[in-house]
Amino acid sequence: MSKPVIVSGIQPTGNLHIGNYLGAVKNWLELQNSGKYDLYIFIADLHSLTGKLTAAQLREQVKITVVELLAAGIDPNKTTFFVQSHVKEHAELAWVFNCVTLMSELEKMTQFKEKASQQISATAGLFTYPILQAADILIYKGALVPVGQDQIQHVELTRDIARWFNNKYGVFFPETKHLLTNVPKVMSLLEPEKKMSKSLGAGHVIDMCESPEEINNKLKKAVTATVGGEVAPGVTNLLGLLKEFGDNNIYTQFVKSEKQGNIRYGDLKNTLAEAVSDYFSKFREKRSKLLKDTKKLDKILAKGAKKASKVAQNNMKEVRKLVGVR
Ligand code: ADP
Ligand code: TRP
Repeated sequence: MSKPVIVSGIQPTGNLHIGNYLGAVKNWLELQNSGKYDLYIFIADLHSLTGKLTAAQLREQVKITVVELLAAGIDPNKTTFFVQSHVKEHAELAWVFNCVTLMSELEKMTQFKEKASQQISATAGLFTYPILQAADILIYKGALVPVGQDQIQHVELTRDIARWFNNKYGVFFPETKHLLTNVPKVMSLLEPEKKMSKSLGAGHVIDMCESPEEINNKLKKAVTATVGGEVAPGVTNLLGLLKEFGDNNIYTQFVKSEKQGNIRYGDLKNTLAEAVSDYFSKFREKRSKLLKDTKKLDKILAKGAKKASKVAQNNMKEVRKLVGVR
């Protein structure tokens, strides 16, 4: 029996942060190391064309993201690891999906509404972004997609697109499901009611590669203020992070002192800063080494693209037949 296919991608937004890690990357590593799945992980550089990067910036960020995922533990011998634009069929399948998807369905996408509202006029690329995402997944007939909470809607649309295609042309694509981690939504340090995201600014996120001093400084400024007698959302967030990165006994003690009302936020922040920087110390070392070895990276990516292309080409051939084009 063939293994279930799992597909996920990440935009090359520069350094990965602990939200990316806890929401997605950690899950990829566990799924990879279980040996139970056929896993495809890629850098979504075509999706990043919807942003404002120059060509040189995009190339540099792709390189950093590749290095960071390898340093985090993505193993190209176990996972098909590649760059989206190296496999041409993603964009071709996206066109076919453009033609089975109603505009009214795309208009419902929260990410589009949010991003479009921040611009004077939005491009068609930003609007059809989730269609390319569906193609990324379905070109490998992906059954499961490990992502953070903010991507659930896009995976649901992927399932709809598969249905619309299957209804029109005959059953070919699976009905994809999302997979979440224990922490599908890490919150911002400075505005803990919002998702931790690069787009909010550097003070809101902790990057995986940050030095112990930088982590300490950022956590010192983390908001822990209470609103209306409830446990402050910032404190809940920091405790959640300690649970993931720290020692379980120490975590339990902090939860207890929070309940008793004698928690010291300064201690919580110091303990968490040390836990996070220890957790990623090997990652930082590997990252620095890999950044110097560009030749190795090219080789790894060429191998990944070759493996992915073989599957993508076969599936695209079938799709062309089903829809009646060459
Ligand atoms: P960002 O919002 O920082 O630009 P991306 O959109 O590139 O991050 O997200 C890449 C992956 O990381 C996705 O699977 C996404 O759901 C996940 N992710 C991003 N931010 C968070 C977060 N704060 N908490 C949990 N998962 C997250
Ligand atoms: N849109 C995703 C994000 O912003 C990245 C992505 C692109 C993706 N293609 C994908 C995620 C396919 C999962 C599967 O995080």
